[in-house]
Amino acid sequence: MEINKLNGSLNGEIRVPGDKSISHRSVILASISEGKTQVKNFLMGEDCLDTIKCFRKLGVKIEIKEREVLIHGVGINGLKKPDGPLYAGNSGTTIRLLTGLLSGQSFETTILGDDSLSKRPMERITKPLSLMGADLNCNEDKYPPIVIKPVDKLNGIKYKQSKASAQVKSSIMLAGLYTDDDILINQPEISRDHTERMMKYFGVDIKVDGKKIYMNGKKEKLKSRNIFVPGDISSAAFYIIAALIIKDSHIVIKDVGINPTRTGIIDVMLEMGANIRVSNKRVVNEEELGDIEVKYSKLKSVEIGGDIIPRIIDEIPIIALAANFAKGKTIIKDAEELKVKESNRIDTVCYELNKMGMDITPTEDGMIINGGKKLKGAKVDSKGDHRIAMMLAVAGFISEGKTYISNFNSVNVSNPNFIKIFNSICHIWVEKNWIFIYNLSVKKKRRIMMKNKLPIALSNRHVHLSQEDIEKLFGKGYELTPIKDLSQPGQFACEEKVDLVGPKRTIQGVRVLGPARSQSQVEVSLSDGFTLGVKVPVKGSGSLEGTPKITLKGPKGQVELDQGLIAAARHIHMSVDDAEEFGVEDKQIVKIKTYGPRSLIFENVLVRVREDFALEMHVDVEEGNAAGLKNCEEVEIIR
Ligand code: S3P
Repeated sequence: MEINKLNGSLNGEIRVPGDKSISHRSVILASISEGKTQVKNFLMGEDCLDTIKCFRKLGVKIEIKEREVLIHGVGINGLKKPDGPLYAGNSGTTIRLLTGLLSGQSFETTILGDDSLSKRPMERITKPLSLMGADLNCNEDKYPPIVIKPVDKLNGIKYKQSKASAQVKSSIMLAGLYTDDDILINQPEISRDHTERMMKYFGVDIKVDGKKIYMNGKKEKLKSRNIFVPGDISSAAFYIIAALIIKDSHIVIKDVGINPTRTGIIDVMLEMGANIRVSNKRVVNEEELGDIEVKYSKLKSVEIGGDIIPRIIDEIPIIALAANFAKGKTIIKDAEELKVKESNRIDTVCYELNKMGMDITPTEDGMIINGGKKLKGAKVDSKGDHRIAMMLAVAGFISEGKTYISNFNSVNVSNPNFIKIFNSICHIWVEKNWIFIYNLSVKKKRRIMMKNKLPIALSNRHVHLSQEDIEKLFGKGYELTPIKDLSQPGQFACEEKVDLVGPKRTIQGVRVLGPARSQSQVEVSLSDGFTLGVKVPVKGSGSLEGTPKITLKGPKGQVELDQGLIAAARHIHMSVDDAEEFGVEDKQIVKIKTYGPRSLIFENVLVRVREDFALEMHVDVEEGNAAGLKNCEEVEIIR
């Protein structure tokens, strides 16, 4: 992804996708409850979708409709043995919570993950679960895959956590649903408490007293309840910080979860001098939510550590960036946990932000930032970590020049609409593989190219007609009827169709494209040539000299063209500006690389430059299919 410095400010109202932690838990608890649960505003990110796939494999019927999920609970003992391993993808929450839940089942399961998850530590859950009697096996005793074997009985546990972790306590609590003994968990600091709240909401007898969590031996059945998932404050964090550091910004983020175990980002930023206000507070399904208003602010440095860390654990990458815009030295400590997240977040944040000009030094348990440096665009890498990708994009918006972020797609893990939401407040938007920025200060639309990339269009067989031939085919004085604009300015598809009559066969109903041209021309594929019984030459549009004849049949008459049947040569339309940006000239022949399972290189592609051309490569449907391409897919010029 290529990001340019943003010249405008951020203004307006947005909503962020549903909370990731709550979305996961809604699927887990609803699956083992009695009855149907409807979950609104579910996060359709890759992590939560992986949790859904796991439960489907465990025999739970789950329907997805836009942002709504309907879960047909199977009851506490209704899960079925899956027909293969469960795949948790990139999601630590999925594997850790499911291991707890599946420790108490009467069948064996294996849970796998992607490369990143396969390097993340699991002893933190296997240790307490084994103390409860679970039979678990990991790779090298600590990494996924985890093999979970059935046991006769799980025991209760009194567990003192050495580190605060919501995933660990939740794993124990879920296993705790499958024992008649009591559970007591003692936390060093309070981590996010969504499991506790949702279990209570589903009717589980669970008590929380400060840092202690108790579950009563006798377990009630879970009763299905409908859920609204508040917006994810961890996703909101990127917009909050962007608005705080981009001049003149003023945004409101509606319906965000403000559960106090998650609002550390607001507390830290208030301490840094931020202008943030939370209003419209209310509670749904045991979770608080509200609207967060943020205005551009002058920030000051802080020291962050101790019991706030679990409340900002996922926001530290973006807080580190914010610290560059604060006067003085910001110190983040007690956060060694960052080393075992989706990437080693201490190393990745420091290494990538240093490249952009920040003065940031990693320490054993955090980082030190000397604020006030001017940032410059750079080639950076998210290391496949969604939160790093989003933080680097915000850094790119405020850096001089271009920032290239590799592995940007990881944003799909928690916010597939990350750029789209920014579009709505900073007037950046993506159209056919181009990023547009509306520069508020000069009121001008500026386009940023994704290096050497352009969209492709597949042309179906069609006919261009002279006015004289239009009248012969459709009647005297006839005018074409436009039904749809084409991407090239002034060009349109018409309602009218004609038949192509060849020596062998006729092809019926071929679309006419407008407006009328000086000479008629028929563009077909090579296979169409076989159908018609004519050897069709590959030619550039308008180069009709010596091309085969063809007969056209319309409702009012027939035209015998003595030349004009061609298979259009591959070509690219582009404007003078595009040509300059790509470094090519009119009539130049280039190569085009395509992507996907049938990727190939198209040679002999003609560049056609004209001031008003819209950037697009054209091939016919037959060629497009050979490369497995669809309209608007991205291809790349290579030389
Ligand atoms: C999560 C807990 C946190 C957090 C993760 C989601 C959860 O991890 O970093 O993104 O949903 O329980 P830890 O429990 O490992 O601190």
